[in-house]
Amino acid sequence: MILSTARLDLRELTDADVPALAAILTDPVAMAAYEGAFTNEEVADWLHRQRERYARDGFGLWAVVERETGEMIGQCGITRQRIDDDEVIEVGYLFQRAHWHHGYAAEAASACRDWAFENLAIDALYAKVRSTNVASMNVAIRLGMTVRRTFISHYRGVDMPHLAFALSRGDWRARGHTAPVGS
Ligand SMILES: CC(C)(COP(=O)(O)OP(=O)(O)OC[C@H]1O[C@@H](n2cnc3c(N)ncnc32)[C@H](O)[C@@H]1OP(=O)(O)O)[C@@H](O)C(=O)NCCC(=O)NCCS
Repeated sequence: MILSTARLDLRELTDADVPALAAILTDPVAMAAYEGAFTNEEVADWLHRQRERYARDGFGLWAVVERETGEMIGQCGITRQRIDDDEVIEVGYLFQRAHWHHGYAAEAASACRDWAFENLAIDALYAKVRSTNVASMNVAIRLGMTVRRTFISHYRGVDMPHLAFALSRGDWRARGHTAPVGS
């Protein structure tokens, strides 16, 4: 187990999560910001990439499990990303559509935000959000982030305008968080 919140447990993804992962990644509505639904092969690649991240970085997108039901309802975690020429650390979140609007993304992402500042020597935590993805912007805002700049992300053959949201370590501390191990 990586993290626990009031309603959720976060742990590494495994092969057993493929059906739940596919419920997110092959849903054209959930994947609108990623230019459409993934194929099953792309789902397998996605899981493989998270495993590579766990091995290389010690973090990645983790499985989010609703404790009451034991169901894997989403993914949330920390990844290395590029914004233009900068390498940044990002909090990411993707949930099954059936579990939107319950505050789960904000709950899981807040725990991941605190994990990142407590465990990594970062000055700021980012969230890359496509300019059309209002639900994701609102999660970033709930995390205390503000928009730092705009950029274009090239993904699946498309130029996508994005916003770079971020929270600095100073602003994270000012929100009452303490004991940043990584600083
Ligand atoms: C982005 C995404 C994770 C946001 O999910 P979400 O459920 O809207 O976000 P939250 O967990 O913050 O939930 C907030 C909503 O739950 C409601 N809510 C209900 N109970 C709540 C509670 N106990 N606490 C907080 N919010 C609660 C809020 O009113 C809010 O509703 P609203 O969106 O209608 O205003 C989801 O839209 C998603 O998975 N999208 C597809 C993948 C994606 O684009 N990811 C981001 C890539 S950058």
